[in-house]
Amino acid sequence: MKKIAVLVSGGGTNLQALIDAQARGEIVNGEIAVVISSAPEAYALERAQHANIPSCVLARKDYSSSQSMTIALVNKLRELDIDLVVMAGFMTIVTKELFEVYNNAVINIHPALIPSFCGKGAYGLHVHEQALAYGVKVSGATVHFVTEECDSGPIILQKAVDVLLDDTPETLQRRIMERCEWKLLPQAVSLFCQDRLKVEGRTVQILP
Ligand code: GAR
Repeated sequence: MKKIAVLVSGGGTNLQALIDAQARGEIVNGEIAVVISSAPEAYALERAQHANIPSCVLARKDYSSSQSMTIALVNKLRELDIDLVVMAGFMTIVTKELFEVYNNAVINIHPALIPSFCGKGAYGLHVHEQALAYGVKVSGATVHFVTEECDSGPIILQKAVDVLLDDTPETLQRRIMERCEWKLLPQAVSLFCQDRLKVEGRTVQILP
């Protein structure tokens, strides 16, 4: 059974999707062992408590640099014997120390079809503002392995939805969460836990 750490910063609807999938038995060979939040006030922490999942706070402001925060994070993950790190709306920059230990074992959900609307400044609602401003006809979500370069690691799963004429950033965000994010993230986590993701260069092969 693989031990999963979920990293959060806010509302935690993606964490909830993972908790619900786990309750339905859809995270095959995996178990959420801990929730780590970068913000003490994150509602995601209440979701963890409700589900009886241990949690802790690791705030950037308590460390002198992103590097020292990352080292504290890695120490925590190792102490708990974590196999998979899931960034589910985690808004804090981490440094290479995480990927040295967790190579192809950190995954992130991004609310757009990478390589569109990603990178610096593209997070949360901003992503949907950018998509609407550009006038795209489809958008969606991407689950990918995390590497040192922001939003650039090998893509695991993607799903698209239509952008509607009267969409606001909020309605587009909601549709992408419901139809893409909350489905893709548990699916990708389950595939990882079953050792069914094979990374070859930029390509992730899904094994039967
Ligand atoms: C989600 O839409 C997630 O894809 C996005 O933040 C939101 C968090 O919501 N992540 C990023 O933008 C990362 N670049 P949640 O806390 O309800 O899961």
